[in-house]
Amino acid sequence: MAHPIKIAPSILSADFGELAAEVQAVERAGADWIHVDVMDGRFVPNLTLGPVVSRAVRRATSLPVDVHLMIVEPERYVSAFADAGADVITVHAEACPHLQRVVQQIKELGKKAGVALNPHTSEEALRYLMDDVDLVLVMSVNPGFGGQAFLPQVLPKVRALRELIARSGRDIVLEVDGGVTSETIGGLVEAGADVFVAGSAVFGKPDYAAAISALRAAC
Ligand code: DX5
Ligand code: ZN
Repeated sequence: MAHPIKIAPSILSADFGELAAEVQAVERAGADWIHVDVMDGRFVPNLTLGPVVSRAVRRATSLPVDVHLMIVEPERYVSAFADAGADVITVHAEACPHLQRVVQQIKELGKKAGVALNPHTSEEALRYLMDDVDLVLVMSVNPGFGGQAFLPQVLPKVRALRELIARSGRDIVLEVDGGVTSETIGGLVEAGADVFVAGSAVFGKPDYAAAISALRAAC
């Protein structure tokens, strides 16, 4: 069964000069999780932040901190992000030849373990991992930048993953990231997603509470 809808604003689109205030503002505005995008300039063509900034986010909020690692060799850094107070740590299937081992490593650190799939990666990558993962993150843009257009070809994949989750009988969260707006969120809810990352659709708007309400209203 899908969970109640959650909105996870991505700080990628926040004002980093006012990061703590920005995080507190979206918390007051009704955010459910805070999404932290970590990029290494190798797995994706952009650089963002590391455990130091993730810890600053942790200190600014009591909401769950949802860390999305868009980096090669994430096994080298998961314990640093666990120490920095992440609640969920998500790695990319495409970055991990030994994905099940990395998932176990995250769980041994006492954190929820997520696996992200790029738009072209099949749900089949997770078929034999459904006993292990706590969260699946479907990328609906090619990761690297905020503000990109939603790729509708991921909708059948969200549906297929909802079925795999149902068949697993486990409590696995199905999250979508990229191009989530009031126009695209309805189809994703219908396909079975339950957590929605939103960068520009929240931080790109003048009124964060109105922006989050608009997303919920479109569900
Ligand atoms: C993209 C990141 C996303 C990004 C989403 O590589 O993983 O979390 O911030 O931004 P929007 O919602 O603007 O597409
Ligand atoms: Zn992300």
